[in-house]
Amino acid sequence: MKRAKITVVGAGNVGATCAQYCAMAGLGDVVLLDIPAAKDMPKGKALDMAEAASVLGFTANVTGTTDYADTANSDVVVVTAGIPRKPGMSRDDLLATNAKIVGSVGAEIAKTSPNAVVIVVSNPVDTMVQRMLDVTGFPKERVIGQAGVLDAARFCTFIAMELNVSVEDVSAMLLGGHGDSMVPLSSCSSVGGIPVTQLIPADRLAEIVQRARVGGGEIVNLLGTGSAYYAPAASTAKMVQAIVRDENRVMACVAFCDKEYGVGGYYVGVPVVLGDGGVKKVVKLQMTAEETELFAKSCEAVRQNVTNMKYLVELNP
Ligand code: NAI
Ligand code: 2OP
Repeated sequence: MKRAKITVVGAGNVGATCAQYCAMAGLGDVVLLDIPAAKDMPKGKALDMAEAASVLGFTANVTGTTDYADTANSDVVVVTAGIPRKPGMSRDDLLATNAKIVGSVGAEIAKTSPNAVVIVVSNPVDTMVQRMLDVTGFPKERVIGQAGVLDAARFCTFIAMELNVSVEDVSAMLLGGHGDSMVPLSSCSSVGGIPVTQLIPADRLAEIVQRARVGGGEIVNLLGTGSAYYAPAASTAKMVQAIVRDENRVMACVAFCDKEYGVGGYYVGVPVVLGDGGVKKVVKLQMTAEETELFAKSCEAVRQNVTNMKYLVELNP
């Protein structure tokens, strides 16, 4: 069987780490791309990763480039190009800069890898996925974003810490935009199959939910410069794996929803079946009345951001 070709655009913290995880998991051959101003940096990182293969024991060609020709006919393209936030910044503060970057990256992907599934990571991700869709003109199921796997992973981590149990036994679901208005769903989260609501008192669970919501900011403040990348990269690699291995995994992704959840034609975080070709289905789940209200607010924040992004793109195409 032919090995998948995976391109990662943006060879910074998230991109390089994601490329490394994809290569180590043997998901396919990996091409790491950055801007020409980065010179040989992507080549250097790729060669370094390739040299790790002999020690760690994985089979993958890992190459670095600044030329989209080398990414031609990729099966999956991960887009991490853009600026990350600094302490005191929200993801939305990145909108104008990253809309331009993601627009130019999308135009190149459309030309060089017209059949790829595109996973956008650049923030504010719900809006940047929309930008990618608009620029590439690809089918909606092939343009998705990474957020929910990471946000759910943070929620799982904090639940496991609270109960002093293995995080492997914790399962969590999360909806909405990838901002502080995201909606961790306690009603759909469990530990060894036991609903988390039976294991953690409601007031303490509310604190854990809040910590998960602002989990990205917690890391930004701890790092002092840049934002999280190990868990974001691992979350993205998990999505790549589901696609290239056609796993039909159920996970929260930033997916286009029209009638689904009554979203009305925007990208938001929802549970999907992810496999070959991208999103195969948006999975419908029941929320409590409170969760439904919070989800509506989160979707409103995404709509506002998309309106702002479209205005900025019109002003400065
Ligand atoms: P970084 O600064 O370490 O890396 C970004 C890379 O993108 C740099 O190497 C830069 O040269 C490159 N780049 C800039 N413009 C480019 C272009 N036009 N074409 C190709 N490459 C380009 O930043 P980091 O930490 O890797 O974060 C990247 C993005 O991912 C940020 O916007 C960040 O907010 C976002 N992010 C999103 C997450 C999510 O869950 N959706 C999680 C973590 C980060
Ligand atoms: C995060 O949640 C910055 O969106 C990124 O860590």
